[in-house]
Amino acid sequence: MVTLANRVSRWTLPAFALALVNFLLAEALILAGLTWPARSVSAPGTLAAVHLLVIGWLLLLMLGALFQFVPVITARALASQRLALLTLLAIEAGLAAMVGGFLAIGRHPALALALPAGGTAVLLGVLLAIFNLGVPLFGARPLALPGRMVLSGLAFLLVTVALGLSFALAFTVPPLAPYLAVLLYAVGDHALAGLGGWFTLTAMGVSYKLLPMFMLAPEERGVAGECVHVLGAGGFALAVGAGLARVWVAAEALRVAQDSGYMAIAIAVMIYLWDIVRIYRTRKRALIEAHNRAAAGAFGFLGLAAALAIGFAATHRLGAGAPLIIFLVVFGWLGGLGLTQLYKIIPFLTWLTRYGSNLGRGAVPRVQDLVRERRSYPWFALYFLGVLLGAACVLAGHAGGLRPSLALVTLATVGLLIEYWRAWRGHYAHGRRDASAPPSFVSNQRG
Ligand code: HEM
Repeated sequence: MVTLANRVSRWTLPAFALALVNFLLAEALILAGLTWPARSVSAPGTLAAVHLLVIGWLLLLMLGALFQFVPVITARALASQRLALLTLLAIEAGLAAMVGGFLAIGRHPALALALPAGGTAVLLGVLLAIFNLGVPLFGARPLALPGRMVLSGLAFLLVTVALGLSFALAFTVPPLAPYLAVLLYAVGDHALAGLGGWFTLTAMGVSYKLLPMFMLAPEERGVAGECVHVLGAGGFALAVGAGLARVWVAAEALRVAQDSGYMAIAIAVMIYLWDIVRIYRTRKRALIEAHNRAAAGAFGFLGLAAALAIGFAATHRLGAGAPLIIFLVVFGWLGGLGLTQLYKIIPFLTWLTRYGSNLGRGAVPRVQDLVRERRSYPWFALYFLGVLLGAACVLAGHAGGLRPSLALVTLATVGLLIEYWRAWRGHYAHGRRDASAPPSFVSNQRG
């Protein structure tokens, strides 16, 4: 029997829980002074923390969200819920091995082999996820813009993980080093494909569905949306492709192609931000809920990161500015968007799992009764303030100020985590009544 409760992807909430734990672990590593800026950008602790953030926090968060979101936009079920669980297990186990491997590089050659072993497990998890999400996505043609952006993003995810695995093999398997070591020059392309091509394109695609849905704005994005997708995907492909080719061929044409790619990405980001303002302005719902008010901070950081990247590129200091840009993208844009949207998605899924099947059988709380919006604002404000202060310190040449700023970010993360926990436990819901209609973030799922 199809009930409201089994329209929820079974592994989405566990993925979120795992992602949040990884986020806190990464923050702890930074606070402990084991990463940049206290250590170098290529220090083992920095690489471990970066991958706890991008794989442990953001990748699991995104895949967990996509396991729920893709069936909604395609009206088709995932290939399998069991595969979704396998994906989570492979990625988390792979990540744990990767972190151990990073910390062992240069000290224990045998233990460092955990790095490519873990990378292989992550690749396996990613392949399973691509199959699981690809079945509904390819089965639902013609696909709307959000679905096409997710597909483009998944292609970049594969490139990112394949490059990462090649680096890992180059570092830890000496017989392969003569063939693969040259790829280490492409670490910037690995980062751009992952943070840009995969996360940013996918987050843009998902936001093109979620923002209009929760604010009752037109979902059809017209030429603007198509431009964001084509310029974004084309720009990332050109920049990453030309960057990779330059590892082998020092042709001027490739440098021009790479710069054209960067320019296309910058234009795509500008159009996207303008379009987001349009969504807020054309909404039919007068009240903007807390998660979408706070999301403005994340959009602001996307604009700031893009502006700084343009500034650094124009002054030929992109390499020197990369750690700051990565910090802003990971904590401000992607992390900020993730934390704000979780504030809506967790109560939604909780409502469906716990109360959806009781509809019409007496008093049940409404989705909005599961949260106390005014309690979330100070945490969101503290989070974005911490990111801003950290970035300002680095820009002003006082990189040491990043750690105290990150203490604010961590405190805010813990505060939000408590609010998510309360939503999930129904802490605020006691005594509330009346749920009239099921929320729209649902779809048919099967096990
Ligand atoms: C979503 C997936 C991923 C993203 C977004 C990502 C992102 C990044 C970033 C931003 C850096 C630069 C860090 C720094 O310089 O401090 C980096 C470096 C690196 N990544 Fe990944 N990564 C991903 C997956 C992987 C995987 C699966 C592996 C496989 C083991 C891997 C292996 C590496 C290695 C070995 C380096 C260091 C390269 C060097 O210093 O020359 N990455 N990654």
